[in-house]
Amino acid sequence: MNLSVKIANLKFSNPVTVASGTFGAVGECWDLKAAKQLGAIVPKTVTLLPQQGNLPPRIVETPSGMVNAIGIENDGIDAFIENKLSMYAKIGVPVIVSISGKSDEEFQIMAEKLAGLSSVSAIELNLSCPNLKHKVLVAQDAGATQQVVALVRKIVNQPIIAKLSPNVTSIADIAAAAEAAGADAVSMVNTFQAMVIDVEKRKSMIGNFTGGLSGPAIRPIAVNMVYQTAQRIKIPIMAMGGISNAEDALQFLIAGATMVAVGTMSFIDPNTAIKVLDGIKVYMRKHKINDIKDLIGFIK
Ligand SMILES: Cc1cc2nc3c(=O)[nH]c(=O)nc-3n(C[C@H](O)[C@H](O)[C@H](O)COP(=O)(O)O)c2cc1C
Repeated sequence: MNLSVKIANLKFSNPVTVASGTFGAVGECWDLKAAKQLGAIVPKTVTLLPQQGNLPPRIVETPSGMVNAIGIENDGIDAFIENKLSMYAKIGVPVIVSISGKSDEEFQIMAEKLAGLSSVSAIELNLSCPNLKHKVLVAQDAGATQQVVALVRKIVNQPIIAKLSPNVTSIADIAAAAEAAGADAVSMVNTFQAMVIDVEKRKSMIGNFTGGLSGPAIRPIAVNMVYQTAQRIKIPIMAMGGISNAEDALQFLIAGATMVAVGTMSFIDPNTAIKVLDGIKVYMRKHKINDIKDLIGFIK
C-alpha cells in the first residue's frame, strides 16, 4: 500500500501530521516510537523574539471544542534553532517549522535564519498574525498574504506552506493569492474567532477577551472550506479542523486535502494521530485502494 504524498519535491511517508501548537516536545507528550510513524512533525509557531503569551485563562472547553488564546508563547527563533530543532530532526521524519512575524521584515529575518538549515524540511507561514502596517491579519488580506509569501519565496529553497485563517469571506481567494505568490501548499484551517462569557461575573472566560475555536465543533465548516479551496487551487492542501479519528481525516482527503493534521484532539489522546493513520490503512485495505492518491479529491 502506498501512503506517500508530496509537497513540491518533499516526500512524506504518509499524509498524517500534527497541527502547530497542539503537541508538546518529544518526551513531554510524545513517545518517540509513535512520532516516527507520522508523515511529518509541525512544532509550535516561533516568532522572531521571545513572547510570553497572553494572560490566563488561555483555554476554555466548549461543546465539542475549545477556545484558546495562548498568544504564541515561545522562546524566539534563535533559541528554537539552538535548543529544539535538532531534537525534532532526530525523530527522523520531515520537520515543518512554523513561523509568524509582525511585519514583512520579521518574516524576512526568520526566513533568512531557516533558509540554510537542512533540518528544516519545509516552512509553514502562520499568517494568522496581525500585520501592523495593514492593521489586519495577514491571512485576512489577499494582498498582504501575497506579499509575505513572495518575500519568503525569494529567500528559501524549502517548500513553503501558507497557513490560512477561516475568518474571511472566501478562504479560496486567499489560497489562490498564496499560490500565485509561490506557495507550495496551503494549510487550513486555523481557529475561528470566538468568545465565551461567564454570565455570573459578566466577564470573558479568556484572559485575552477573545480567542479561537477549534476541535470537532469546527470540522464540517473546515471540510467545506477545504472542498471549496481544492476546486480553486492546484497546490496541495494540508487540512485540519477537529480531526478525531480516521473517518474525519478521510472526509478531508476525499474533499481534496493531500495531508491531514490532528490538533485539539491530541489533548484528549496524544495518540490520536497514530490512530488516524492506522484507521486510514484499514479503510484503504477494506476498499482495496492501493495508493492514497486514488482517494485524494475523489468525491462522487
Ligand atoms: C492550544 C492551541 C494552540 C495553537 N497554537 C497554534 C500555533 O502556535 N500556530 C498555529 O499555526 N496554529 C495554532 N493552533 C491552531 C491549530 O494548529 C489548528 O489549526 C486548529 O486548532 C484547528 O485544528 P483542530 O481543530 O484539530 O485543533 C493552536 C490551536 C490550539 C488549540
